[in-house]
Amino acid sequence: MSVLPPEVVEQSERQWAFVVAGVLGIVFALIIYMSVHWAAQPPSNVETIDASTLHLAGEFIEENLGTAVQPDGSVIVRVIAQQYSFVPACMVVPADTPVVFRVTSPDVVHGFLIMGTNVNTMVVPGFIAQVRTRFANAGEHLMPCQEYCSVGHEGMWAHVKVMDRQEFARSYAGQPRASCAR
Ligand code: CUA
Repeated sequence: MSVLPPEVVEQSERQWAFVVAGVLGIVFALIIYMSVHWAAQPPSNVETIDASTLHLAGEFIEENLGTAVQPDGSVIVRVIAQQYSFVPACMVVPADTPVVFRVTSPDVVHGFLIMGTNVNTMVVPGFIAQVRTRFANAGEHLMPCQEYCSVGHEGMWAHVKVMDRQEFARSYAGQPRASCAR
């Protein structure tokens, strides 16, 4: 067995250290670019809930699901992600208004992704995923489940309908809730 001279080993180690430092630098630069330019950040909300009693009591009972209009005009949208659907399957929200999504799962991990936006979070049973956002324009967004959740995963998706702010206010004036089916 041949033994390399120490200077050769040292030089090679130094070169690899530069390569690793370079890779780390690129990764950090990507993280900074994505968080600043795309507003992509890790979810920070940690709230737990009993996944086995979601539909029986508390915040996520059926009549609480969907869009709830707050006194200040902002909305909170509560959603259950379950094998293999979102409840409700269509959500309506106003444009140019603060929107909070609160999502949880009674069974397995699902993904909550609103296409064309930076809303993207995991939905883990036992936890409430919360996302704050604001839609700039009216329009429809597809909302596919983006965590593999078993055989029906591909058919699990919903819609988010963003309405013009004034139109939303007219349509749901005086109502505490807003839903797609009117
Ligand atoms: Cu739910 Cu994939």
